[in-house]
Amino acid sequence: MKVLVTGGLGYIGSHTATVLINQGHELAIVDDLSNSSEDVLDAIGRTTGVKPKFWRHDILNLEGLERVFEAFRPDGVIHFAAYKSVPESIRDPLAYWENNVQGTLCLLKCMDKYHASRFVFSSTAAVYGIPTELPVTELTETKPINPYGQTKLAAEQLIASFIATRSNMRGVILRYFNPVGAHPAGFLGEVVKEQSHNLVAQIVRVLKKEQEALSVFGKDFPTRDGTGVRDYIHIMDLAEAHVEALEASKKTSKLLVYNVGTGHGYSVIDIVTRFEAAMGSRVPLRFEQRRIGDPAEVYASGERLKADTRWRPRRSLSDMCLSVLQWEDLKESGPASDL
Ligand code: NAD
Ligand code: WQD
Repeated sequence: MKVLVTGGLGYIGSHTATVLINQGHELAIVDDLSNSSEDVLDAIGRTTGVKPKFWRHDILNLEGLERVFEAFRPDGVIHFAAYKSVPESIRDPLAYWENNVQGTLCLLKCMDKYHASRFVFSSTAAVYGIPTELPVTELTETKPINPYGQTKLAAEQLIASFIATRSNMRGVILRYFNPVGAHPAGFLGEVVKEQSHNLVAQIVRVLKKEQEALSVFGKDFPTRDGTGVRDYIHIMDLAEAHVEALEASKKTSKLLVYNVGTGHGYSVIDIVTRFEAAMGSRVPLRFEQRRIGDPAEVYASGERLKADTRWRPRRSLSDMCLSVLQWEDLKESGPASDL
C-alpha cells in the first residue's frame, strides 16, 4: 500500500515507518521538523535500507499538502503530526487547537480530494482524563482534563463525522498509553528535549548525571506502593499496532477505535527499579507533591485490538528499559533480544 505518514520523523512515526517499510509498504513522510530533524530520515534509511520520500512541510498549509498528495497519491494516511505536551497545551491552548484539529482537517480535505481511503489516527489515553474505570476500555467515558486531550478528542470527532459521510473511507483511531523504548538496531529512539518531562526522560537525565535525583510526584496514591501507575508499552509494539490497524481497516466497519496498551500497570517505583537493574546503578529519588490532574492509576484493556488483529504486545518492561539505555549510549548492546 502507498502510505503517507504525517509526523513521520517524530518518535512514534519514525519507528512505525520502519515497520511499514519492512512489511513492504511504499512510504512517504511529511513533517515540518517542528519537533524532529532530518537526521531521522537517514536513521530510517540505515535501519531499513530504504530512505522514504520526504516533504518538509507544515500540514496546516493546505495548498502545499495538496501538492504532496498530487505527487504521491497515497492509498492510506497515518497521522502522527501534532503537538503533544500537556503543560504546553495549558499555556498555549490556541496553538494546540490549531495544530491538532486544524491540521487534521487539512489532511482530511486532501484525502477527500485525492481519494485516499484509509486513515489511522494517533490518539491518546489523555482523552479519558481521570478514568472512571480500570482497565480502561474503548467504551470508558471520554472526559479529557487538559487542552491537549481535548484537541485529540475533537480530532477524533472530526474524523468520525467525516468518515460517516464517505462510503469508501475506513478509519482507525488508536489511543496510545505510555510509549517507552527504542528501535533495537540502535539508530532510532526518543530524542529527549529540554521540554521533555515524561518519566523516562527524567530517569535518563538522572542516569546521565545531568540531574541529581528523580522527582517522584506523589507517594500517597491509593496504589501498591503509593506512586502513580501507568501502562508502559514498548515503542516497537506500538509501531506494529499501526500496521495491524491498517490491515484491520480493510475488512471491518468504517471507524474502529482501539486502545493500544498492554493491560499491565507499573508504578513509578517499578520503572525506577527496572532501570536500576538494567543499568546496575541507583536512581536517587526525591518525593514531591502530586502533579495537578495526575490520575493514580491508568492501564488499558487491549483486548479489542487483540481480538480483531494478530497484534500482541511482545516486549517486556526490561526490553523497554534496556533499549532506552542502549539508545542513550548508557549501556553497550547486549546479545540480540527478541526484538
Ligand atoms: P513527536 O513530537 O516526536 O512527533 C510528532 C511529529 O510531528 C514531529 O516530528 C513534528 O515535527 C511533526 N509535526 C508537528 N506538527 C506538525 C505540522 N503542523 N506539520 C507537519 N509536521 C508536524 O511526537 P510523538 O511522541 O511521536 O507523537 C506522535 C503522535 O502520537 C502525536 O499525535 C501524539 O499526540 C500522539 N501520542 C503520543 C504519545 C507519547 O507519549 N509520545 C502518547 C499518546 C499519543
Ligand atoms: C508517568 C508517571 C507521573 C515524571 C503523558 C501524557 C499522556 C500521554 C503519555 C501523549 C506519572 C510520574 C513523571 C517525573 C514522576 N502523552 N512522574 N516524575 O502523565 O502518564 O502521560 O504521556 O499523548 O497524554 O499526559 O506520563 O511520563 O509524564 O508520567 O513521578 O519526573 O510518572 O506522576 O505517575 P503521563 P508521564
